[in-house]
Amino acid sequence: MRRDQSAGRVAALRGRLVDLELDGVVITTLENIRYLSGFSGSLGYLLIGRTGAEILGDSRYWLQMEAEAPGFTLVRSGPSHGLWALVAERLKALGLRRVGFESQHLTFDQHQRLSAALPGEHTLVASAGLVEELRIVKTPEEVELLRAVAAIAGRAFDRVRGAIRPGLRERDVAFLLEQTFRELGADGPAFESIVAAGERGALPHGRASDRVLERGDMVVVDFGATAAGYHSDTTRTIVVGEPSTEQARVIEAVRQAQLESMALMKPGVAADAVDRRAREVLAGETHAFGHGLGHGIGLQVHERPFLSPADHTPLRAGMVITNEPGIYIPGWGGVRLEEMVVITDAGPEVLTSASWEIGAG
Ligand code: GLY
Ligand code: MN
Ligand code: MN
Repeated sequence: MRRDQSAGRVAALRGRLVDLELDGVVITTLENIRYLSGFSGSLGYLLIGRTGAEILGDSRYWLQMEAEAPGFTLVRSGPSHGLWALVAERLKALGLRRVGFESQHLTFDQHQRLSAALPGEHTLVASAGLVEELRIVKTPEEVELLRAVAAIAGRAFDRVRGAIRPGLRERDVAFLLEQTFRELGADGPAFESIVAAGERGALPHGRASDRVLERGDMVVVDFGATAAGYHSDTTRTIVVGEPSTEQARVIEAVRQAQLESMALMKPGVAADAVDRRAREVLAGETHAFGHGLGHGIGLQVHERPFLSPADHTPLRAGMVITNEPGIYIPGWGGVRLEEMVVITDAGPEVLTSASWEIGAG
C-alpha cells in the first residue's frame, strides 16, 4: 500500500480516537491491520496513539513488515518475549492510558493477559468496529481491486460453464473454478465454492459434494476469487440441458427481485429498505430466502453494511454490496442469483460479470 494511503487511513482513525477520548488503540484484526498499514502476514499487532504508530511482530515477519508497512515503527519481539507483555510495555512507554481494543476480535484470554501485564493507571476500553466503520466506504483504488477480482471470477465461470456436462461431480466443478481463478491471476478462492445440484440447491450454502450432475439438474454455483486481500462473490444458477418451465419461472422470479431491489441501491436509501423490496417482489413465493439480501464485501467476504431487516445504515457512494435473493424449495432445489454492486452518485453499478445464460452442458 502507498504510504500516503496508509497515513490517510490512520489519520481518519485518530479522528475517532479524539471523539472517543482514547489515547490510543490496539489493533489485532488481520484485515484491519492490512487496511491501516499494508502488512499482509498472519500475525502482528498495531499500536496507534494520537501521534505514534507502531507495528509489533516476531522474526518471521520483520522483513515483510518493513517492506509493507513503512509508515509504522517496527517493534521486534524476541523468542522469549510474550507478545502481550510487549504490547503492555509499549503502551507504558508511549504513555497511552485509555486504550481501545477490538472487543469483537480479542479473545477473553488475550484480554486477561494484556490487562494482567498493565499497571492500574492504564484502562482498556472495548472499542468494537472502529476500523470496520472506516472500511464501509471503499476508496476508488479499493473499488478497482474489487472490480478486478470480480472480473477474474466471471471469466473463470464463463470458461468452466462450457465444461459442465452430465457425469461431472459438484466437486469437479468447484475444482475447475478454483484452478481457473489461479490461472487468471487470483491468489485463490475467496471462500469454499458452493456447487449445489438438483435437490441440494435447497441448501443455501451447500458445499460442493460428490453428487454427480444429471441432465435436467438445476445447479447453484456461488463462487469468488481473492487477490491483494480483496474478495469477490457471485452466484449463478444454471440448468444442465434445457430448463423446465418451472425452473425458468423460478429463476425469472428471483431475477426480478434482484433487479427491482438493485434499483434502490443508491445513496440515501436505507440498507433494510433494499432488502424489503426484494421480499415484496417474492411475496407470492412460499420458499423465498430466509437470509439477508446482501452484505458489504472487501477485505472480508462479509462486512458492513448488511442488506437485512436489522441494518438501517443509509447507503453511501463507494459502498460495495452484494445483492443475492434466492428461493429454496426442499426436495426440489434452489435458485440464487448474486451480483456485487458499487453504489455511485449516479446509482448502482454492477461489478460482477459472469454470463447470464441458463443452459449448460
Ligand atoms: N458466498 C457466500 C455468500 O454469498 O454470502
Ligand atoms: Mn456468494
Ligand atoms: Mn454473498
